[in-house]
Amino acid sequence: MDKIIITGGKKLKGSISISGSKNSALPILFATLLTDEKCEIKNVPTLADIKTTIDFLNFIGKSTKKNKNTVIAEQSAKLNHIAPYDLVRKMRASILVMGPLIARLGKVDVSLPGGCAIGARPIDIHLDAFKQMGAIIELKEGYVKVTAENGLKGADIEFRFASVGATENILLASVLAKGITRIINAAKEPEIVDLADMLIKMGAKISGAGTKIIIIEGVKKLSGCTHSVISDRIETATYMIATAITKGDVTLKNTNPQHLQIVIEKLIESGLRIKVKDDEMKIKWTKDLKPINIQTEIYPGFPTDIQAQWMALMSVVKGNSRVEETVFENRFLHVGELQRFGADIKIDGNSVSVSGVDKLSGAPVMVSDLRAGAALVLAGLCAQGKTEVLRIYHLDRGYETLEKKFRKLGANIKRVKDN
Ligand code: EPZ
Repeated sequence: MDKIIITGGKKLKGSISISGSKNSALPILFATLLTDEKCEIKNVPTLADIKTTIDFLNFIGKSTKKNKNTVIAEQSAKLNHIAPYDLVRKMRASILVMGPLIARLGKVDVSLPGGCAIGARPIDIHLDAFKQMGAIIELKEGYVKVTAENGLKGADIEFRFASVGATENILLASVLAKGITRIINAAKEPEIVDLADMLIKMGAKISGAGTKIIIIEGVKKLSGCTHSVISDRIETATYMIATAITKGDVTLKNTNPQHLQIVIEKLIESGLRIKVKDDEMKIKWTKDLKPINIQTEIYPGFPTDIQAQWMALMSVVKGNSRVEETVFENRFLHVGELQRFGADIKIDGNSVSVSGVDKLSGAPVMVSDLRAGAALVLAGLCAQGKTEVLRIYHLDRGYETLEKKFRKLGANIKRVKDN
């Protein structure tokens, strides 16, 4: 297993380009199952989760190849309706195979994903929606079997929570369903809009993506398409906070500032200088930052995927702040690890109070999940001395060439084999 070693204290300087969005690329790759025709997907980041998805698509019956950041997916065999445990356990997003397979085959058997480090993460909203579209759901031997022998029927579906994954799964299923589907209380994340844009290029009839109500008129068949994935807003925010925590001066290219309004506002309120021009952001630390409270919320609120990195930043900002998590039930596993750097943080239910310290000291730490890992790297970049970050396979799931990008910005960071 690899680990990352950081010698902290370098101010980040220079410019890097932001990669394509992991959380957009995953549903978009699953969308290629909706057609026999060729799909060409560009700006796909090179990540462990993308490799898992490509292997998965090939197992299901596609011939999917990746060359640099372009993926070509073509149909090569009859589609298989079973998604086994071995594939689903590697990546929760594998449940996005449900929508396209029920739509194409009228049945799918998916191993239940189970919980993960950040919470129980049930899939009841996905399943209730399939049921409302006429599917029969059975749970057997660790599998959820969804069957709609005569195809899915459009329905008015109101989500009890604006789940990102459920919105994607129902979009993927309803584009080929009979009649009109309305998703009420849909997720509004930019990744939903990106998926809808790709489906529309394939011939789907969708309106309202990016708002609370998405209307889908089912069509008989979808065609191939060429689509370029949006840039990764979570990666962007991670490098913005890295600039703030190291008192740096960094330009981020190939990003979309529109997708990060709340994070930009919070960083400016804290005292960071941010200049936005088209798809570029210039971030400069010019003075001591102020502590700012955040509460995670669904889009356009503060993203839960940036909560851990924000906490790392607040742990070195003089004064007191609060971080509240409202999306996931157990997303504070980084707290214990940040304390190992000397951070003064206390958990109180779904909130955390942070009392900024003058400096963090490097420490050996362990990654529990992707964004927690990003927070530990940020802490290591500003800490005095050496930090060893273990279990970095979580980071490889979501940050393309992380050490390379940080090294380009002048950080002292390397990946080594851990024996
Ligand atoms: C997506 O997860 C992202 N993953 C997550 O990114 C992100 O944190 C999350 O959305 C919220 O923005 C991908 O896009 C692949 P949800 P998803 O369904 O779809 C509960 C990262 O680090 N819920 O909106 O799983 C659930 O338990 C990650 O890149 C139900 O109760 O998120 C959670 O508390 C991790 N029943 C909340 O809703 C359901 O049927 C949000 O989940 C579905 C969800």
